[in-house]
Amino acid sequence: MATYEHPYPDPALAAAHAFVPFSTERRSDEEMQRRADDFHRLMEGRRSVRMFDDTPVPRRLIETAIRTASTAPSGAHMQPWTFVAISDPAIKRRIREAAEEEERVNYLDNRMNDEWQRALAPLGTDHHKEFLEIAPWIVVLFEQRFGTNDDGSKRTHYYVKESVGLAAGMFVTAIHQMGLATLPHTPSPMAFLRTVLARPETERPFVMFPVGHPLPGVQVPDLQRKPLDEVARFLD
Ligand SMILES: Cc1cc2nc3c(=O)[nH]c(=O)nc-3n(C[C@H](O)[C@H](O)[C@H](O)COP(=O)(O)O)c2cc1C
Repeated sequence: MATYEHPYPDPALAAAHAFVPFSTERRSDEEMQRRADDFHRLMEGRRSVRMFDDTPVPRRLIETAIRTASTAPSGAHMQPWTFVAISDPAIKRRIREAAEEEERVNYLDNRMNDEWQRALAPLGTDHHKEFLEIAPWIVVLFEQRFGTNDDGSKRTHYYVKESVGLAAGMFVTAIHQMGLATLPHTPSPMAFLRTVLARPETERPFVMFPVGHPLPGVQVPDLQRKPLDEVARFLD
């Protein structure tokens, strides 16, 4: 077992703030590799879906995915996120209409530059966002630019985008793990989401996730993921 010259927490810190023991189950390297391979296989099967079925999905499943996402690490443990989950058809319709309005400008009036449009061409995305009404849920993830202390004063949030990005990834993972599908959707600019969902000025939409069962027979682009040697460098 390793020994530390400067143990954490030191006695003064432990006297001033609460600490609890933490441990994980020690597993053999082989057992960990098996689990890692299983999880990797599961995640290789995740795909962004652009046609959902209208089969209802219980609210409890969405709650659990949000709980899981909210276990994400965050700068100074501020958890600077709000998930707004919508199944109300009237609100979903308003979101679809506003998203399509923005996307019409992006795609048809060339607000997205040529390079961007060329990058999107193989995905075949366009300004039609029917899935926003058909998917049983839309979950909008807001970043909290700063928070509020009990006395009403402003509380600084740290590494907001990094933290919210981690929570977003864990939300996507949770949804896939339970057997549902989602799509990270960013009909830019997304400021309309703050108005439609009546969120405070301190919050900014980060990404939205339609969630549901994939439509039977749905197709996805035939994408390849980069091999390990293109995404990693090892210095060992
Ligand atoms: C931050 C972010 C924003 C995205 N925005 C959109 C979007 O607005 N519309 C869309 O159809 N796909 C969007 N996507 C999905 C990507 O196109 C998709 O993740 C990528 O093509 C890889 O496919 P996969 O998720 O099936 O692996 C977004 C993905 C991310 C991470």
